[in-house]
Amino acid sequence: MHDGSGRLIVQGLSKSFGPVNAVQDLNFTVRPGSVTGFLGPNGSGKTTTLRMLLGLVTPTAGTATINGLPFHQLPNPATVVGAVLDAQSFHPGRTARQHLRCYAAAMNVPDAQVDRALELVGLSAAAKRKAGAFSLGMRQRLALATALLGDPQVLVLDEPANGLDPEGIAWLRNFLKAFAASGRTVLMSSHFLREIEHTVDQLVIISRGRCVFDGHLDQLRAAQRSRAFVQAADPSKLVDKLQEAGYGIEYLQDGRIAVTGADSRAVADLALEAGIALYGMQDERIGLEQLFFQLTNGQYTSVQQHGAQWPAPDGQGFGGNA
Ligand SMILES: Nc1ncnc2c1ncn2[C@@H]1O[C@H](COP(=O)(O)OP(=O)(O)O)[C@@H](O)[C@H]1O
Ligand SMILES: [Mg+2]
Repeated sequence: MHDGSGRLIVQGLSKSFGPVNAVQDLNFTVRPGSVTGFLGPNGSGKTTTLRMLLGLVTPTAGTATINGLPFHQLPNPATVVGAVLDAQSFHPGRTARQHLRCYAAAMNVPDAQVDRALELVGLSAAAKRKAGAFSLGMRQRLALATALLGDPQVLVLDEPANGLDPEGIAWLRNFLKAFAASGRTVLMSSHFLREIEHTVDQLVIISRGRCVFDGHLDQLRAAQRSRAFVQAADPSKLVDKLQEAGYGIEYLQDGRIAVTGADSRAVADLALEAGIALYGMQDERIGLEQLFFQLTNGQYTSVQQHGAQWPAPDGQGFGGNA
């Protein structure tokens, strides 16, 4: 019997397709009550991982469990986990309701669930329209309705925001947040941090099949930082003042000083106070998107730990090479 925890546990999970190591020793846990983003560039192994979780691909090594059991051992899996994988296809001549009725019958779910699912995804008014004429956004909603038929405890969605317009993304965000807030589990993949930044609270980031970050979005946000580049008439005097004020500094080859944790305004105020002339200033901001890019560009390797992990605690490698 499954443990009813709503937890997804991935342990030592690997998958090779011939010479391609699509997923390599992945470890993470997804808990109920929050929306977990599964983030990585195209080809990093997200779909393969989700397919292993859903019993559609056999792992080369390791395990992926839902409620403590591999998918195939779940009794009545449609009531435990609903999934939307990429590449959704519908019979184009069937209406939305007919499509859902077919699935409801196959899942042994009462017909009443069909109208409930249509309503949940905001497709009630389109119930009698043919799916073949649906927009991409409507197809995404119909796919989600299919996943919701069994009133599952867990939702696994592969790139559900793909192709949605901003309104569709906002709708999906509210839906998933409410779903998670009711004590259920959501794992959604994306290759685009900005797209899910306001939807997820937990993040698992993978690069080339390996985990490079596992923690709360706030922990990633905390790693954002800014630097100011400054050229001063008297660099060593400015450096003294900056160090007194607690800033980290670095001399660049071109004679400029990089000041960590400061913006150019703070440096200018300090220089003015000390009577040091400045000849040039520039701000650099390492935002979330850049962090994601650096993490998945292979600049970092990290070791999986319990709870949050963050590679390169000294921040080495952050920032440009100005
Ligand atoms: N059935 C398959 N046969 C061979 N290679 C595959 C197969 N499925 C995925 N791959 C390869 O595994 C890697 C990860 O793919 P995928 O899991 O689809 O990544 P993502 O979903 O993050 O874009 C890619 O190099 C991809 O080409
Ligand atoms: Mg994919």
